[in-house]
Amino acid sequence: MGQQETEKLNELMHGAALTRAICTVAELGIADQIEGGKPRPVSELAAATGCHEQGLHRMMRFLASQGLFTETASGAFDHTPLSSVLRGDSVGSYRAGARMFHHIFAGWDGLDHAVKTGTPGFDKVFGKPIFDYVGEHPELGPILDAGMTSIHGYETEAMLDAYDFSGISVLADIGGGNGSLISGVLKRYPVMRGLLFDLGHVMGRAKANLEAGGLTDRCSVMEGSFFETVPAGADAYLFRHIIHDWTDEQCVGILGHCRKVIPAGGRLLVVECVVPEGNEPSISKAFDMTMMTFPGGLERTEKQFRKLFEMSGFELSLVTPTSSMVSVVEGKPV
Ligand SMILES: C[S@@+](CC[C@H](N)C(=O)[O-])C[C@H]1O[C@@H](n2cnc3c(N)ncnc32)[C@H](O)[C@@H]1O
Repeated sequence: MGQQETEKLNELMHGAALTRAICTVAELGIADQIEGGKPRPVSELAAATGCHEQGLHRMMRFLASQGLFTETASGAFDHTPLSSVLRGDSVGSYRAGARMFHHIFAGWDGLDHAVKTGTPGFDKVFGKPIFDYVGEHPELGPILDAGMTSIHGYETEAMLDAYDFSGISVLADIGGGNGSLISGVLKRYPVMRGLLFDLGHVMGRAKANLEAGGLTDRCSVMEGSFFETVPAGADAYLFRHIIHDWTDEQCVGILGHCRKVIPAGGRLLVVECVVPEGNEPSISKAFDMTMMTFPGGLERTEKQFRKLFEMSGFELSLVTPTSSMVSVVEGKPV
């Protein structure tokens, strides 16, 4: 192997150092200590965040070499566009997303297990499936909800700009989490009604968000497991970042419940990445690694979606790409 390849592999092997450094910045709130255009010395940053000054300087120097933060000649650190998004109060803040990764990062220790067995690495490391684990650790629920909104929140507007939801009277958001997605749709479509369905421990946060958005009269909430039932009463069923959490067999169960209650002429809307075939680079292929390692699901190609829909009593009718990484994969009951 030549020097070039060794050097490239050295760089790639340190991807974990970069990920962990970003997670650490987010967890410690370091980006929040810097106001853009007002560089702060490391001594001040260390004192404000309870860090070891030299250790913090080394991490910040590494991050600055990767385009997050910039070091001034006097050894102070200022923001770059990338690092400023790690401030908790920035527009579209990524802080909660990086904090989420920080809290469950150990799951990656199970990647080899996932590759060898085809079962989730998270379960091997944490002793149980991720959603059970989160249900049993109340401190994690809000971190994961906020993380999902931080990472995927921007997709809501992209989805609404690309796909026409008009004609839908009642939209059910299945596995709707903290309600930020259904809130965004109902705000864009003022006569539409909503129904949010998720596990019991998520309900409090969903209700609080709907209340804050003045949407309680237009959106009901219902707790339950989509492995047991999917609520009737809607003419469209939205699943964003749900189907990719599960195997085909599990998805046939979930979508099968949906098939039982969806009216003829109703719409199934799966909002997820559609993995391109071949060697083309795509963030969906990285998210697919996360799905394999954490919940044990997969990101799917269009062909895989078509087959999954068929197995669940639906026909794939339309794939609408958006300006974000997700597409709206539409199905009609057959
Ligand atoms: C990856 S998050 C997606 C949240 C939301 N749809 C979004 O796009 O931001 C997965 C959601 O599925 C919910 N969930 C997991 N297992 C479930 C089950 N058996 N029944 C209902 N919801 C479930 C979780 O509580 C969580 O809110």
